[in-house]
Amino acid sequence: MKQSKLLIIGQKNELFNLLATQFGADFDYDWLDPALLRSELKNANPSLVLLLHEAGKDLETHAYIQQELVDVPVVFVHERHDFQLFRDLVRAGAIDYFVIPEDLNGLENQISILLARLTIRSEKDKPASFKRGSGQVFAFYSGKGGSGKTLLSTTFAQTLKFESTAQVLYIDLNLQFGGGETYLAVETARSLLDLEPVIDEMTEQHLRNVAAKEPLSKMELLISPCDAEMAEYITEDFITKLIRVCRRAYDFIVIDLPVHMDERTYTALVEADRIYYTMAQDTPSIHVFKHTEKLFQKLGVATADRLELVLNEVGRDNELSKKDIERFIDFPIAAEVRRDIKGVQIAINKGETLRKLPEEKKLTPVAKDMRKWVISMLK
Ligand SMILES: Nc1ncnc2c1ncn2[C@@H]1O[C@H](COP(=O)(O)OP(=O)(O)O)[C@@H](O)[C@H]1O
Ligand SMILES: [Mg+2]
Repeated sequence: MKQSKLLIIGQKNELFNLLATQFGADFDYDWLDPALLRSELKNANPSLVLLLHEAGKDLETHAYIQQELVDVPVVFVHERHDFQLFRDLVRAGAIDYFVIPEDLNGLENQISILLARLTIRSEKDKPASFKRGSGQVFAFYSGKGGSGKTLLSTTFAQTLKFESTAQVLYIDLNLQFGGGETYLAVETARSLLDLEPVIDEMTEQHLRNVAAKEPLSKMELLISPCDAEMAEYITEDFITKLIRVCRRAYDFIVIDLPVHMDERTYTALVEADRIYYTMAQDTPSIHVFKHTEKLFQKLGVATADRLELVLNEVGRDNELSKKDIERFIDFPIAAEVRRDIKGVQIAINKGETLRKLPEEKKLTPVAKDMRKWVISMLK
């Protein structure tokens, strides 16, 4: 039996007719009546599924498709905007969403791109990639302690939450007292360890139950257990699973990592979409960076198009200029954050966060630089 790469699942209604008229001649496709999903889907072998909206059934049908056709991308089509449904489907793993007829051209382009890419993939016989949600993971790392990982990652996450409508999760993976909750002025008895018993069937609900909320921005956070012995239960496998569930539940996941490179730090670095490397503008920081870069190479942590520098404690008395850094290190500089001993110190001593309100007028230099960075990144 001949099988097309594209499978359309949906009732033969107006939406279907629209699509068939628009690109029926351009793409070869098979069609499956959703009523026959359970008996017929297992016989299908598409590279791409187009799921048409059917009131009240979308999430269930989508889940069934994912279960039967592991790793086959699903694009969802609706005749109206439904952001809640869109978000739920993307969290569940749908890769894209189109409103028809408004975005017929966009859909057509996306299908051609995906079909072209999927052909190349099967020809090269690439191993199937894991299913993943759409949340982006930013890991803050540095080979040097005291370079601002925790201060900047907490402020970055909090600012992201203030400056967007995104769902933001901060994870402290220091696996000993990381200090993130101090900067965020949050007290919680719960920690990552509370997820350990459910790690194999962890759902978004488990995450939300354990995560604490930063009261001002409502950003959520997961902190490390304070007890170093208990932290032994947090394994490499735990971290992989945790990050993958987080991707489905949140739009942005900000991870604070310790300097210490073990399997767990390594795993988070590999899973991250972007690594923000925090450093000062001085010679020791360059030496440590070079050393870290070699270590990343040896361990297989990819850095091209992933690693960006964050220059911290920028001030007039810096030993090296930004130009010097650019001369020695061949990675883009994502942001420059000024040194503001007083502003940071006052906030810490008062048990306050650097950001307090969504549209704050009077920001300290660190908060201001972070805001500029986050806004440019959101664009
Ligand atoms: N831009 C800055 N201005 C003033 N103080 C800073 C700045 N960045 C970091 N610090 C201070 O430096 C110390 C180390 O920062 P921290 O974020 O804990 O580093 P790390 O997590 O990399 O060990 C903290 O006391 C912090 O408040
Ligand atoms: Mg730290």
